[in-house]
Amino acid sequence: MSRYDDYKREVLTVSRRLSQQGYFGTKSGTAGNVSMLIEGEEAIAVTPTRMRYDVMQPEDICVVGFDLKPIEGPNKPSIETPMHVAAYRVRQDINAVIHTHQTHASAISILNRPIPPLFDEVTLAIGEVVDVVPYAPSGTQELHEGVVSKLTNRCHCYLIQNHGAMCVGRDLETTFTYVELLEKTAEVYSLALATGQPITTLPPAAVRQLVAVVMARQDREIARKNALTTAEARRA
Ligand code: 13P
Repeated sequence: MSRYDDYKREVLTVSRRLSQQGYFGTKSGTAGNVSMLIEGEEAIAVTPTRMRYDVMQPEDICVVGFDLKPIEGPNKPSIETPMHVAAYRVRQDINAVIHTHQTHASAISILNRPIPPLFDEVTLAIGEVVDVVPYAPSGTQELHEGVVSKLTNRCHCYLIQNHGAMCVGRDLETTFTYVELLEKTAEVYSLALATGQPITTLPPAAVRQLVAVVMARQDREIARKNALTTAEARRA
């Protein structure tokens, strides 16, 4: 038993669901990785590197500090752990990160083209534009730096060129829904691009209204965390 057990169970549950639904590219492979921020600590629960999700157990999930030092767990953490930590450092509004190899988002990633705002419900959830992080080999500092440079746009989804996608959110369940919405919008965008016909995007005024709602939600989460930190500092 450890105070991280609930985090480990949740990371495993969502990872299994992503794997079974094919969001890691194959249903039996080890691609992709998932993490959760440990509330009130500079630490994350993250999937181990190169382990199949169908054999993974809660105790296989790693707990790692922002300094990348292991805190708990017998396995080596995902090679993208520095990318996850970098995301939590840059985006105070997020508590979960999912890196996928999902099919339709990957298709747009090889076109190296951002996905514009196309549907109300998608923009209202994930933000304005799904930007593309330039290609760099997996696990490299170059890739992590590329991700960080894009995260400041306050979107919840990113394409990683010739690699896959990354979604971030306030909790793991919500972030899972961003993975689904990204796949829907990427699939429809691919189908539309294939026709060669012009594509209509949401009107700018509608986008402004929807994005204001996304940012207000993010600001509320940042305020909640700041209030917790202040309360803890007072108790100390
Ligand atoms: P890990 O198995 O180390 O998490 O790596 C998988 C991956 O998708 C790398 O980008």
